[in-house]
Amino acid sequence: MARRKFHTRLCDVLGIEYPIIQAGMGGFSDPPLVIAVSEAGGLGTLGAAVYEPDTLDAAIKEIRKGTSKPFAIDLLLPDSLKDMEGVSKEGLMKYIPDDYYAYEKGLRKKFDIPDDYRSTRGCSLFTMEGTRQLLQVCLDNKVPVIAAGLGRLGWVMPECKKRGIKTIAIGANVKMAMKHVEDQVDVIVAQGYDAGGHTGNIGTLSVVPQIVDAVNPIPVAAAGGIADGRGLVAALALGAEGVWCGSMFLLSNEVTFTERQKDRVIAATERDAVISKAISGKTLRQLRSSFTEIWDKGPMPPLGWPFHNLLTLDIVDYAFGHKDQEKYDAILVTPCSQAARLLNKRRSARQIIDDMVKEAVKVLQEDMTKRVELR
Ligand SMILES: Cc1cc2nc3c(=O)[nH]c(=O)nc-3n(C[C@H](O)[C@H](O)[C@H](O)COP(=O)(O)O)c2cc1C
Repeated sequence: MARRKFHTRLCDVLGIEYPIIQAGMGGFSDPPLVIAVSEAGGLGTLGAAVYEPDTLDAAIKEIRKGTSKPFAIDLLLPDSLKDMEGVSKEGLMKYIPDDYYAYEKGLRKKFDIPDDYRSTRGCSLFTMEGTRQLLQVCLDNKVPVIAAGLGRLGWVMPECKKRGIKTIAIGANVKMAMKHVEDQVDVIVAQGYDAGGHTGNIGTLSVVPQIVDAVNPIPVAAAGGIADGRGLVAALALGAEGVWCGSMFLLSNEVTFTERQKDRVIAATERDAVISKAISGKTLRQLRSSFTEIWDKGPMPPLGWPFHNLLTLDIVDYAFGHKDQEKYDAILVTPCSQAARLLNKRRSARQIIDDMVKEAVKVLQEDMTKRVELR
């Protein structure tokens, strides 16, 4: 049967079949998910936050072996990186006060994590030098699309334009979106408070049309709590040309999530996805756990980015990698949007996309005409 057409301007800009971008999810959206989404007609995005230059290079090659369709690499480019020019990961760790290290040691004891456990992550994303190297890998490989999950792409744009690389940047308010206009990015994501992962403080329904109006004619993808065909139609109604969805893929067969994390997402309600600074020191929506409570309600206020992330890295990675996921449930980081109740069945990424498109068509052709009387 012929595939249903569901086409917007975003599809032309990115060279994709459906206006559905799978958002970058560091540690969770790796080559299998990227390939599956791009093959299904969306844009798969690798969350490069946990990659090093050599592993990123290998991942891009793996994606290219799995699909000839466009895909994106999501980097984190916060402005604060520039203040850390010349500072190594070890140098950054020296800024963390001793009483925080002592507190972290106490948390290891509480959660039964060995004192000598160290994450094997190189943390390229936390240093300017490492970020430049990750970026260079993207440029050398002429990846189809680079996305900035945090921060601005201005300093990267000339090299992207030279190579025909398309760019996507996120705005959680009009002021930030206008900076992306100044940078001349190809697509702007207007992301609302509802979103899983790092998020701003304005609701999706409010922020999307205001950014659409402000950045016109740059195409906008809406984000934040969009997890089915109704969400896609709503995004289009608000003036967006498509969607940028992370949480929608958390139950996909191809995501890098443990079964325990999937069970937690299935059990979650809209009230369980809370904003916490427990992991990165920045506001990040995830499922509530003892670990989020400890940092958000405990005696030590979270440190800023990237210091807090460096401090909690070992604990977080230990829990994620441990085979007894039940034992480490309290510290299992599970970013998720407020659309938690819509995430209730395990499916392939292709099925998720097909279902979204099918439902969106039904809403547009049948449901709306039944519910709205027009003369
Ligand atoms: C599990 C998970 C991990 C995420 N990791 C990142 C990340 O590493 N970098 C980033 O820029 N955004 C990250 N995000 C945010 C997404 O890129 C995206 O903006 C968000 O998921 C969109 O909202 P939604 O979850 O409601 O679809 C993450 C989101 C989730 C759910």
